Amino acid sequence: MQCILNTLILVLALSFSRCSSSEIESYSNQTSLVSRHRREFPFFTIGRIANTQCTGVNGLLGTCQVRGECDANGGIAMGACSSLTNQAVCCVFKATCGGSGSNNVTYFQNSGFPNPYNGGGSCSYTVVPPDNTICQLRIDFGAFTLSQPNADGLCTVDNIQITGGSARVPVICGDNNGQHVYVPFSGTNSIQIRIATTGSVPFNRVWNLQLSLISCSSTFKAPAGCLQYFLGSSGSIQSFNYGQGANAALNAMMMPGTRQMANSNYGICIRKGVGICSVTYKVPTGDPYAFTVSGDAGATTPGTAAAAQRGADCTTDYLIIPNPTGVSTDRFCGLGFTTTTSNTPVFVMYYITNANDATDIGNRGFSLLYTTTACAVGTGK
Ligand SMILES: *[C@@H]1O[C@H](CO)[C@@H](O)[C@H](O)[C@H]1NC(C)=O
Ligand SMILES: *[C@@H]1O[C@H](CO)[C@@H](O)[C@H](O)[C@H]1NC(C)=O
Repeated sequence: MQCILNTLILVLALSFSRCSSSEIESYSNQTSLVSRHRREFPFFTIGRIANTQCTGVNGLLGTCQVRGECDANGGIAMGACSSLTNQAVCCVFKATCGGSGSNNVTYFQNSGFPNPYNGGGSCSYTVVPPDNTICQLRIDFGAFTLSQPNADGLCTVDNIQITGGSARVPVICGDNNGQHVYVPFSGTNSIQIRIATTGSVPFNRVWNLQLSLISCSSTFKAPAGCLQYFLGSSGSIQSFNYGQGANAALNAMMMPGTRQMANSNYGICIRKGVGICSVTYKVPTGDPYAFTVSGDAGATTPGTAAAAQRGADCTTDYLIIPNPTGVSTDRFCGLGFTTTTSNTPVFVMYYITNANDATDIGNRGFSLLYTTTACAVGTGK
């Protein structure tokens, strides 16, 4: 049956026993179907339902499929996706604990979402790349709140671990609404996402992860070495679990802990548009904790130029901004940050934290604004 390819045909015509390619053609445009066939067939004919991406109720992304196909595929019908027939539904795929799948996209939500989950145990989901044309998994943390790390930045109570890709993803916990990560597939090997929570520690946990497959040829594919990839010409970048308020956990010296994740070591990249030459990073106004990466935020006034440290002073936790303009070092740490511009071929920062943030007191990580700037006219670079 060459006419039944990947898409499904609903034919409610009686004397219609054979398909030939001339009778039902492949359409990328559903709107023209009915008018095209209404004349030829006395009985109503609905053509193919193109399996395009659709937005279901609650803004969730799905695939337009015939209702029965959606059921058979384990999806959830979330509203209509075609004006031609109410049999075409926006089919949304949700991860189940212990399950696996290849659907673009899939949502991995806590039990009872959008209500919080105040329990323990672990839930794992495996993303299987459909073939070797898929290079990366993008995980958008639409909502993500787990308990805070311990005072040293270790996610000992709750955490998310993402394994199986060809690059390491740090263990993450705490408040991460709006964050994202890119994980490169290692060939056609699967990637596992595991969220573990400790039921004996009461806490309102919420997660809603959107899992998208990125094709190897996609313009949205992140450059190698980028755990995060920002596509806008300007925007805001925060370290994982950056937030208002200190981590309430106390360290061994009975001092307030850090919000930074220990053992971070990752690249944060910004798309360099055509004709763009440099990127500038600065702290937002009104937040003295916007760059509190190393040191004692209780003993030093954070957010001042005097509290900013650079170069050889940065040995435990720091940000690397390659080739910064007018600065002789690329390492930034301490409790303040002065506006910095870089014009490297790839716009990237590296965020490094060591295994034990015990010497960091009251730190929150970083929250930086970036803007990209066009090349000077006439230089061509
Ligand atoms: C669908 O086809 C109609 C008629 O050919 C055309 O006017 C319209 O622009 C097409 N829509 C899309 C989204 O391609
Ligand atoms: C998967 O869906 C996302 C979100 O719409 C889209 O950007 C991406 O191109 C899709 N991937 C593939 C392989 O079609």
